[in-house]
Amino acid sequence: KPRKVFFSRQLPGVALDRLAAEADVTIWPKADAPTPDELSDVVRGCDAILTLLSDAVDGRVMDAAGPQLKVISNYAVGYNNIDLAAAKQRGIQVGNTPDVLTDATADLAATLMLAASRRVAEAADDVTSGRWQNWEPAGLLGVEPSGKTLGIIGMGRIGKALANRMVGGWKMNLIYTSRRDQTDVNESLSGRRVELDELLRESDFISIHVALCEATRKLIDAEAFAKMKSNVVLVNTARGEIIDQDALLDALDTCKIFTAGLDVTTPEPLPASHPLVQHQRCLILPHIGSATTTARSAMTEIAVDNIIAGIQGKSLRCPVTL
Ligand code: GLV
Ligand code: GLV
Repeated sequence: KPRKVFFSRQLPGVALDRLAAEADVTIWPKADAPTPDELSDVVRGCDAILTLLSDAVDGRVMDAAGPQLKVISNYAVGYNNIDLAAAKQRGIQVGNTPDVLTDATADLAATLMLAASRRVAEAADDVTSGRWQNWEPAGLLGVEPSGKTLGIIGMGRIGKALANRMVGGWKMNLIYTSRRDQTDVNESLSGRRVELDELLRESDFISIHVALCEATRKLIDAEAFAKMKSNVVLVNTARGEIIDQDALLDALDTCKIFTAGLDVTTPEPLPASHPLVQHQRCLILPHIGSATTTARSAMTEIAVDNIIAGIQGKSLRCPVTL
């Protein structure tokens, strides 16, 4: 009997056709993500599940699917939405979609660095609202990245791609945190690995590129903001939970930091009335780091490859391990 696969959303690209030859594919029809209860209900009897980063998949969902569930294919590089221990316990493989979204996400981090440092959202709002009347010599002054120190928290694939752009193009000085020393980064980009404390104290621009886990939840809290220089530009394209948003709001309100550029928040979306959304010096985007046609089609290819391998009992193209 044919394999059953559930997709929690329609995906861009053509890779789905390959899967249709192997399995019966059901796609969640609504624009709103399934609730945990709905998800448990629709995955019953499935051999594979395709999930988005906004779908929380715990042991309950896995058990609701049933013992034939072989693979959970997450349409994202991050996988904090999936309980890996529960999957391992049940012998379920988990896959993600790394590499193909590295350039797109690094481009967006660079975009946020430049847009936040030049107050682009505030400036555009001045025009849209009709507030802009005169070219002012001291109006909307920003800060420049050239020659400044960029602190990258988490020197993985995306952190390195951002470092390449900002050191190569803007001649920034590079410091970074990482579990291990990155010789290539030290040699080709004159990077220096430091402790988080030093990074917070030395950086003019800070960009976050670590995965969300217990150790990184609220990594940037009030204490971290207190250590920063004044006029720092803070960028987050990783996960919203890494920043303590109350502390960020306070740092913006007290002008402790210059501006923030966020592609991720907690929750997503933040209500439009949230003080961070309304804040002049906080630019928030709707989690579009990987949103290019190139990246998203390639992510679909990998996600489908992961599913096909998983239902055939083979190892995944891009496996996630605990
Ligand atoms: C997006 O946030 C991803 O993890 O791919
Ligand atoms: C500004 O428009 C300049 O040319 O400096």
